[in-house]
Amino acid sequence: MDRIRIVGGRELNGVIPISGAKNAALPLMIASLLTPETLTLENVPDLADVNRLLRILGNHGVDHMVEGRRFGDSPDASRTIRLSARDIVDTTAPYELVSKMRASFWVVAPLLARMGEAKVSLPGGCAIGTRPVDLLIMALEKLGAKVEIEAGYVHATASRGLRGAEIEFPKVTVGGTHTAMMAAATAQGATRILNAAREPEVVDLAACLNKMGAKISGAGRSEIEIEGVGRLNGARHRVLPDRIEAGTYAIAAAMAGGDVLLAGAEAGALQNALDALVAAGAQVAVSNEGVRVKRNGAGLSPVDVETAPFPGFPTDLQAQFMALMTRAKGDSRITETIFENRFMHVQELARLGARIRLEGDVALVEGVERLEGAPVMATDLRASVSLVIAALAAEGETMVNRVYHLDRGFERLEAKLSGCGAVIERLSS
Ligand code: EPU
Repeated sequence: MDRIRIVGGRELNGVIPISGAKNAALPLMIASLLTPETLTLENVPDLADVNRLLRILGNHGVDHMVEGRRFGDSPDASRTIRLSARDIVDTTAPYELVSKMRASFWVVAPLLARMGEAKVSLPGGCAIGTRPVDLLIMALEKLGAKVEIEAGYVHATASRGLRGAEIEFPKVTVGGTHTAMMAAATAQGATRILNAAREPEVVDLAACLNKMGAKISGAGRSEIEIEGVGRLNGARHRVLPDRIEAGTYAIAAAMAGGDVLLAGAEAGALQNALDALVAAGAQVAVSNEGVRVKRNGAGLSPVDVETAPFPGFPTDLQAQFMALMTRAKGDSRITETIFENRFMHVQELARLGARIRLEGDVALVEGVERLEGAPVMATDLRASVSLVIAALAAEGETMVNRVYHLDRGFERLEAKLSGCGAVIERLSS
């Protein structure tokens, strides 16, 4: 298993290109199941989760072609992938595949919409919490599906097709909103989604579905309206930039100090986190090129944050911000409201010298003068990268184990950070 070695204490200076968003690419790829025509996605990040989903989709009959980089292209040039689900050959998504990546459960919606049937393994819990799919099933049932749970599988059928309906989510769910939009796009009649997730990735999926011929309006607001259409066609769509990757490197720059341009980052998708960084003492400037984050000399101020659905502070940046707060001059409170068990990084940050106390869904962080390198590991991808951030400011060497978590969500992490002066390398074993 690979490890990442980091020697802390260097400033970050330079440009970090921001990749396409993992959490947009995954549902967009899944949407390819809705049409027999080709869906071409540009700016698809080269990540373990993307490659795993390509294999899962292949099982259902989706052919894909990755357009190669041309000679002389930078390694950061974006990837284009063409997906063609001309014939769906299998409507079952087995446990072995779905258990490795929760988002693959979302195939249930397009398979059901197009084939009238889908049998998808329940994804089960994961390191950050129980993460049920009850609301996704509720949405499919509202649209007229018959859903049975048999031997760990969700078996959904709609022999006479799906019908538009009103779906009100009692809790904001990104996956639920993706599922409802994909299932309703080709249902008979109109659908209204109430209390929809407003995440930029939802907006991106709706934009792509509309290019495919869907009639979806209101994405990005709490109420989404969908007029069902008979069929969807192929399209070409560019995956939006990864706001969580951008936020992660923004926090890294604030932690290490220096001056970093996050090229291609969209500040609007990241406002809450950027405000928290400014409150902590970083300087943030937004331009056409992206977002520039600077911190020179001055210490970090403690800032309290509470995670919330978009446009609130993202749960996917909670661990990284906690790493930053370990070096603040004072105490901060970090409240996690989305997932019940997303504090697995706390013990590992403590190995680097952080002082953090957990009280239910609140982490009380007492800033310390110095962190010290140590061997660490993490159980999910955002937790892993929070350890990388802490290591950038720790004295001495940190070895981050279980790097496969990082590979699920951060494209060329070591190259991007070392390009800005960090001492970071991958050790293969
Ligand atoms: N929930 C239910 N029932 C459901 C669905 C969700 O109770 O049927 C609960 C969840 O347990 C959670 C809350 O609703 O407490 C929100 O979950 P949501 O459905 O929004 O999460 P998701 O769609 O499974 C996506 C991202 C996550 C990100 C969350 C929240 C992808 C592939 N995953 O998950 O990303 O944390 O939204 O923004 O888009 C990550 O990238 O590291 C990651 C975990």
